[in-house]
Amino acid sequence: MPIPTPHINAKAGDFAETVLMPGDPLRSKFIAETFLENPVLVNNVRGVQGYTGTYKGKRVSVMASGMGQPAIGIYSYELFAFYDVKNIIRIGSCGSIDPELHVRDIVIAQAACTNGSYANQYELPGTFAPIASFELLEKAVAATRASGVNFKVGNILSSDMFYDDAASAMRWTKMGVLGIEMESAALYCNAARLGKNGLCICTVSDSFNYPEENTTAEERQNSFTKMMEIALEIA
Ligand code: HPA
Repeated sequence: MPIPTPHINAKAGDFAETVLMPGDPLRSKFIAETFLENPVLVNNVRGVQGYTGTYKGKRVSVMASGMGQPAIGIYSYELFAFYDVKNIIRIGSCGSIDPELHVRDIVIAQAACTNGSYANQYELPGTFAPIASFELLEKAVAATRASGVNFKVGNILSSDMFYDDAASAMRWTKMGVLGIEMESAALYCNAARLGKNGLCICTVSDSFNYPEENTTAEERQNSFTKMMEIALEIA
């Protein structure tokens, strides 16, 4: 497909080989303005802000994914397939369902279960298991350990529902799933299909076990500094 794509109006070479991908466009702007040297806005279609700058001398990009698997499916596909991006590190938030995880802890998604149908497109004779890039996973674990923050590595659920009528969250706990978000499985599918690297790191923004700890939208936008620094370190 020729670039610009339907959703990204950047030129060839505008993106670094690693793109950090928060869900929220405002968080993309915050990361670019707070952490990157000389950030340049390279995409703003639909307000999905993408910036490229440098961090400790290394070129890195940050662009939002929007919410949900269809949205991250579009942006990660276009970056991987048409902009030569090699690594996408989602830096998101999740609701924790593991009793050992509290608000502001970090979850590194080694794999992503899903109740969505993104992988149906491959018409596989079975169920695909979307997993993180081992290379990025190893680096993220080392950087998170060094940061001193409480974290767990394991399975998450990429749900198509934020408001889930079946209230099925706790059933995933029985399978050792740590938290729920809405994007990683599609990112991992695209990375697998296109021979690229995907990883999702989440800060726990709300807890199914400790609802009194839940953060506000403003805190979600601004208080995830540690996770951003971890992602920038491994970029
Ligand atoms: N469910 C789905 N996605 C989320 C949640 C949640 O509880 N918290 C943050 N992202």
